[in-house]
Amino acid sequence: MSTHRISDTHIAVIGLGYVGLPLAAAFGQHLPVVGYDIDESRIAELKQGHDRTLEVNDEELFQAINLEFTADAEDLRKANVYIVTTPTPIDEHKSPDLGAIRAATRTLAATLTPGDVVIYESTVYPGVTEEVCVPLLEEVSGLKYNDEFFAGYSPERINPGDKVHRVTNIVKVTSGSTPEIADYIDDLYRLIVSAGTHSAPSIKVAEAAKVIENTQRDVNIALMNELAVIFNKMDIDTQDVLEAAGTKWNFLPFRPGLVGGHCIGVDPYYLTHKAQAVGHHPEIILAGRRLNDSMGQYVASRLVKTMLHHIPKLSDARILVMGLTFKENTPDIRNTRVVDVVRELQEYGITVDVHDPWASSEEVEREYDITLVDTPCPQNYDAIIIAVAHHQFAELGAEGIRSYGKSDCTIYDLKGVLPKSAAHLRL
Ligand SMILES: NC(=O)c1ccc[n+]([C@@H]2O[C@H](COP(=O)([O-])OP(=O)(O)OC[C@H]3O[C@@H](n4cnc5c(N)ncnc54)[C@H](O)[C@@H]3O)[C@@H](O)[C@H]2O)c1
Repeated sequence: MSTHRISDTHIAVIGLGYVGLPLAAAFGQHLPVVGYDIDESRIAELKQGHDRTLEVNDEELFQAINLEFTADAEDLRKANVYIVTTPTPIDEHKSPDLGAIRAATRTLAATLTPGDVVIYESTVYPGVTEEVCVPLLEEVSGLKYNDEFFAGYSPERINPGDKVHRVTNIVKVTSGSTPEIADYIDDLYRLIVSAGTHSAPSIKVAEAAKVIENTQRDVNIALMNELAVIFNKMDIDTQDVLEAAGTKWNFLPFRPGLVGGHCIGVDPYYLTHKAQAVGHHPEIILAGRRLNDSMGQYVASRLVKTMLHHIPKLSDARILVMGLTFKENTPDIRNTRVVDVVRELQEYGITVDVHDPWASSEEVEREYDITLVDTPCPQNYDAIIIAVAHHQFAELGAEGIRSYGKSDCTIYDLKGVLPKSAAHLRL
């Protein structure tokens, strides 16, 4: 029997971004929670009851009555369960960058006391918790693993911008470093996850499960992108083909598209890094990555070939790109691949305007050196690319969108926002 009791639990969530904040708010309805982040401006904004990621609304923040926010690591002393939700990006060589997860581990290790439990939620490759983080915890705290402190891994499955699939209603995989701790961690998450939990047999299984969920998606989308390239050459509409094939009971409903964000386009590299470390050179996973990463260039060159029929001089052309965020109805612009389309078009000498009602102009300027257009001018564009399916674009409809274009404007609908007949090109 574990001596750990839910009623004695005081949680610290470390890293209050898209994953950490909803989690802290959910636990804060049941247990005392310290929400810690190194970004003081983020803490200041949360203390005022506002979440810029729009994942948690003001009322939910208000309801989390036991949740306090801090940028002072000393406040972590109150906690006996630490949940780490810091970023796990890749570096410029597409290798895992474990800098933030290591830094968070060092910070919390300084306040670790006997009996404490450290749970990781960041997406990692199998082995990061036990081979990278636990040794750091032991080194900094001086405590002994599975004797004086314990660990767990519970991956996050939230989908930014999705108001249906939320942390509390998505089945959550849990795991712990001993059978007793695994049960305790599972009970802890059952407190907030109404959809239930799946207790994995080990931490490595839970780590692997998360990383393959996104790898599977990436590879499947790559296949759809390859099919789209083939069918476009044959003048066959890919969406029509997928609709027809989708009537078979076991045909999987993936769609072609730009794969951006900091999950699907990033996580496979965590797996391939570990695969190479254990002596296997991944074929399919990396081929999928290469293909998906090339789609921005493909979209731009396909549009240019079409425009050349009626615009002889590309430097005279002006294109409107609608949507910059990595997916619809979220302000998240991290690792958006729409930028590849913009850059490629600019390389042809084309003037490109980008309009996105969700993205923050300051952030876009800072990250990508692109100045967003607030309100596109009517009858101004030779081509319009609908790159992201924001609800505002669907609401504008074919006529509203076409009104921005000149009379012979080419409409390239990457996301199937408009009816087929309203677009000249689709992916
Ligand atoms: N966003 C998603 O949809 C999603 C879904 C599932 C899993 N994940 C994974 O969850 C993890 C977190 O992702 P996210 O989207 O919430 O990231 P995020 O960038 O939105 O938030 C991370 C937060 O951690 C803070 N931080 C960074 N270093 C820190 C440190 N040393 N100590 C304390 N705070 C620190 C940052 O200031 C930031 O507020 C990643 O591993 C990601 O792959 C994300």
